[in-house]
Amino acid sequence: MSKRRVIGAETVAEARKRQRNIIEVLPGDIVTSEARDQADRLGIALVAGPLEKPLVVRTDGNTAARRALWRRSPKWVAPSNRISHRPRRFRKIAFIGAGGVGANAAHLCANADMAEELTLIDISPGVAEATALDLNHASGVTRSRARANGGTSLSLVEGADVVLVTAGRPRQPGMTRADLIDVNRRVIHAAGAAIAAHATNAIVIVVTNPLDEMTFEMLRATGFPRNQVLGMAGTLDSSRFRNALAMAAGVTTADVEAVTLGSHGEEMAPIVSASRIKGRPLDVFLSEEKIAACVKDAITGGGQVVALKKTGSAVIAPAHSSVEVMDHIRGARAGTVPVSVMLEGEYGIDGVVLGVPCHLGQSGLVSVDEMKLLPDELAALKAAAEAIRNRLAE
Ligand code: LAC
Repeated sequence: MSKRRVIGAETVAEARKRQRNIIEVLPGDIVTSEARDQADRLGIALVAGPLEKPLVVRTDGNTAARRALWRRSPKWVAPSNRISHRPRRFRKIAFIGAGGVGANAAHLCANADMAEELTLIDISPGVAEATALDLNHASGVTRSRARANGGTSLSLVEGADVVLVTAGRPRQPGMTRADLIDVNRRVIHAAGAAIAAHATNAIVIVVTNPLDEMTFEMLRATGFPRNQVLGMAGTLDSSRFRNALAMAAGVTTADVEAVTLGSHGEEMAPIVSASRIKGRPLDVFLSEEKIAACVKDAITGGGQVVALKKTGSAVIAPAHSSVEVMDHIRGARAGTVPVSVMLEGEYGIDGVVLGVPCHLGQSGLVSVDEMKLLPDELAALKAAAEAIRNRLAE
């Protein structure tokens, strides 16, 4: 039994200082009349104990940190793409195409230690092997456990969890992505046949242009269900749109949320109504003309790089955007992400591959998120679907 305590005026004063509104009185405690008077005056209740201790609220570190930040500033808004706790580590990621996008993506995957094995495949002898060796050499510094290997045979995709397909011809200045449709279709069919033969459970991420059309061709070539074949473009176009908005508003990209849907081409649809700067609608910060200029900048972003480079297209932003898709598949990011998938009636569109917000998981596409769009935004999405359908029919 604990010692009997005397609860005097000082105990009440102390309780008030600590902003307590009850004082626990244990059996045998002595409460002075001054303490009773003072507690009465201050509105502090003397409650017969022992009181049940409140349970410690069990929560995870992430939630606790968000609560603490919320308490500090009610204006603080949690970022939507939080890193979840236990992202999956792939056994093997294969890269068909070890050019700029493939090599940069493999580098990012190695640095994030995303897989046990990274296999690079390229038609030019030595290219994939050299990049794999280079990546392994870097592991002495990065300490990545991922082991890279490379070769020219498409059968090296064997057993991959994820296959990133970047192989094909890039644009040259003056070309549209659609100009590549015939030459790259053959590449996609060869890659698709190998994936269907050697990596039947793989999630395929297509990057080869024209993106939506090539994702459609990949579906045909592999015969895979739609959940296994994804086209990477929306993450890239959204990133470009966020960059344009951040520059125009004079804020950092961390302050910008923006999403781009539709085709990865002329019919790209940056969704202004769903975009935010510091959590507020775009027109709080930018004029209508400036928003229109940002939309144009996102649509022409890829072409701007091609025009400057003259020998190919962008590689760094597409690589990051491809890895963002992988991060959603392995559970390292939460929420939706714009990806090109075969639509089956969502948004009133059927039988066309198009960029829409998706929930991804271990089996690839989990569900298409039908976000609320303004009538003109929905019309842009439908126009993109028609344009893609017509190009494929030609
Ligand atoms: C681009 C190419 C990869 O948009 O389509 O940069």
